Amino acid sequence: MNATIEQAINEQIKWEMYSANLYLSMSAWLQDEGLSGFANWMRVQYQEETDHALKFYDFILSRGGKVTLSQIDAPPTTWDSVLDVFEATLTHEQEVTRRINELTYLTKEVKDFASDIFMQWFVTEQIEEEENVRDILNKLRLIKGEGQGMLMLDQEMAQRVYTPSTTNA
Ligand code: FEO
Repeated sequence: MNATIEQAINEQIKWEMYSANLYLSMSAWLQDEGLSGFANWMRVQYQEETDHALKFYDFILSRGGKVTLSQIDAPPTTWDSVLDVFEATLTHEQEVTRRINELTYLTKEVKDFASDIFMQWFVTEQIEEEENVRDILNKLRLIKGEGQGMLMLDQEMAQRVYTPSTTNA
C-alpha cells in the first residue's frame, strides 16, 4: 500500500488506542465518584475506540501493509467534575475529527481511492461521536450538578450497551 497512507494509518491506530485508554481512565474516575452509569457509558466508549483501532489495523493488513504499533502516552487520571470529563471528551473528539479529516484528505491527494472509501465510515462516525457528547453536555449544563437530576442522568447512562462494529470481521 502507499507508504504515506500506511504511516498515517499507523499513527491513527496509536491515536485510537490513546482514546481508548483516555476513556477507560475516565470510566475509572467516574466509578470512583460513585457514578456507575456514567462509568458504564465511558467503558462502552473505551470498547468502541478499541474497535476503531482494530478497524485501522485490519485495513492495513488487508492491503498488504505493515502494522507498526508504538508507545502510547499515559492519559490523565483525574478531573475536576463530571462536566469537566465531558468537556474534555468533546475537545478530544473534535481533535479526532480533525485527524480523520486530514487522513481522508491525504487519501484523496495520493489517489488511494480504496483508503478514501474506507475513511468514509470514520467521517460519518465522527458526526455521531461529537453529537452524543454534545447531547450529554447539554443535559449536564441543565442539571448543574443537582442531585436528583444527576441520579436520573446516571441511570440513563447505565443503559448504554456495547455493540461490536459489524465491519470488523
Ligand atoms: Fe475513535 Fe471517538 O473516535
